[in-house]
Amino acid sequence: MVRIASFASTLAGVLLHTATALEVNFDNQGDVFDAASTIAFGLMRSYTGNYTGDVPGNLPDPYFWWEAGAMFGHLVDYWHITGDESYVNQTVQAIVHQSGDLRDLMPKNQTHTEGNDDQGFWAMSVMAAAENNFPNPRRPAAIRVQRRPEMANLPINKGFNYKNAISNGCFFNLAARLARYTGNSTYAEWAEKVYDWETETEFLWSYNAGIHLHGAAVMYNLTGSDVWKQRLDGLLATTVEIFFKDSVAFEQACEPFKVCNIDQRSFKGYLLRWMSATTHLAPHTIDIIRPLLRASGEAAALACDGPLNPDFKGHADTACGQDWSRRTFDGFSGVGEQMNALAAVMYTQGGASAAPVTLGSGGTSQSDANAGAPEKSKYDFAPIETRDRVAAAFVTLAICLGVVVSAVFMIMD
Ligand SMILES: *[C@@H]1O[C@H](CO)[C@@H](O)[C@H](O)[C@H]1NC(C)=O
Ligand SMILES: *[C@@H]1O[C@H](CO)[C@@H](O)[C@H](O)[C@H]1NC(C)=O
Ligand SMILES: *[C@@H]1O[C@H](CO)[C@@H](O)[C@H](O)[C@H]1NC(C)=O
Ligand SMILES: *[C@@H]1O[C@H](CO)[C@@H](O)[C@H](O)[C@H]1NC(C)=O
Ligand SMILES: *[C@@H]1O[C@H](CO)[C@@H](O)[C@H](O)[C@H]1NC(C)=O
Repeated sequence: MVRIASFASTLAGVLLHTATALEVNFDNQGDVFDAASTIAFGLMRSYTGNYTGDVPGNLPDPYFWWEAGAMFGHLVDYWHITGDESYVNQTVQAIVHQSGDLRDLMPKNQTHTEGNDDQGFWAMSVMAAAENNFPNPRRPAAIRVQRRPEMANLPINKGFNYKNAISNGCFFNLAARLARYTGNSTYAEWAEKVYDWETETEFLWSYNAGIHLHGAAVMYNLTGSDVWKQRLDGLLATTVEIFFKDSVAFEQACEPFKVCNIDQRSFKGYLLRWMSATTHLAPHTIDIIRPLLRASGEAAALACDGPLNPDFKGHADTACGQDWSRRTFDGFSGVGEQMNALAAVMYTQGGASAAPVTLGSGGTSQSDANAGAPEKSKYDFAPIETRDRVAAAFVTLAICLGVVVSAVFMIMD
């Protein structure tokens, strides 16, 4: 059971700090799910997109469009791991709305500001929905395959120049997952190609390391090759060395100096997401990854003892901080901090959830579509059909086409 340690609060709060926290026994799954629910509630209290007059899929200022897309990816996994359906409707509504008039994740309002990585984070949420048999919307998020007509203009987009590593990472990750999901080897060739282009990439940020790690795990799973195993194991070793301190995840480039910007304050949660996903695809990494997820989850939960404040409207004294090594709230709160803590806490249980499906295994027919996933039939959605899930995969295909073209631009620069 999760409870607020109010006794400790009255005792120590006066003298030291507000010592209330989520008390979680990480050996008890129900306990962990309760904590995840509390954190998710605090996160979603910042989301107003389902209110009359607001835009589904947008977070209020100062959060950018991409971060909302990434948030719904966490919520797909939250549903998949815990079975809690509280945010399924909002997630479907947001993804369908933001897929835009052409169902290509290029909504008109965003085409002039988004970089490929911005779009990529929405695409990865759609991909996760497909891989986990997330309840499908009545109106599919994607109904056509198409090349992004705006490609030629992309270099003028604000996000273009300084985010190449994550853009290529999105492309690599999605291409690998599409290859696995659809069985189409063209995507695997694309993944190989972009990975080769990127051999010099340095990982400054945790999400860059994570997105490549997971992509490499997918490629290893797909090919079983020694080459991909070596790449995967190398990426994992680097990731652990740079982005963990005493087994707890941290954003080395900004967190120790308290200078993380709004975007950067959500990065390490994605790293944990991709590490957890890696354990499903490459079980030999479990012994390295699980203890890191566990230590990060424990530290993050302890850092969720912050008070209500303008950036946090959840349950009192459960605001999550940024720097988990302090094991108590550090004064930073917001959507990024809640997302990171949600990831850290829920992915301690990621091992118990079903592995991602493919079109050939669980993703192909209505009869076995729910295999291994929590029961979910009460939604007023069309029955899960191949068409819908193919559609979900196709939306990411459209994005891949776009990103590969821009990757070519970068090579030519
Ligand atoms: C928005 O979703 C939340 C969470 O499901 C719910 O509590 C709230 O009532 C919804 N608001 C509207 C206006 O639908
Ligand atoms: C989701 O929407 C369906 C259909 O409108 C409704 O029956 C259900 O109660 C909603 N679920 C939640 C958690 O709000
Ligand atoms: C674009 O902005 C308008 C006006 O704010 C809004 O009504 C519409 O829903 C937005 N569309 C998307 C996809 O965000
Ligand atoms: C594989 O994907 C490529 C790229 O989208 C496409 O051109 C090709 O038709 C696909 N092949 C099959 C067999 O579906
Ligand atoms: C590939 O992933 C499946 C689970 O989806 C797992 O059972 C299998 O062991 C993985 N293959 C390799 C080579 O690790």
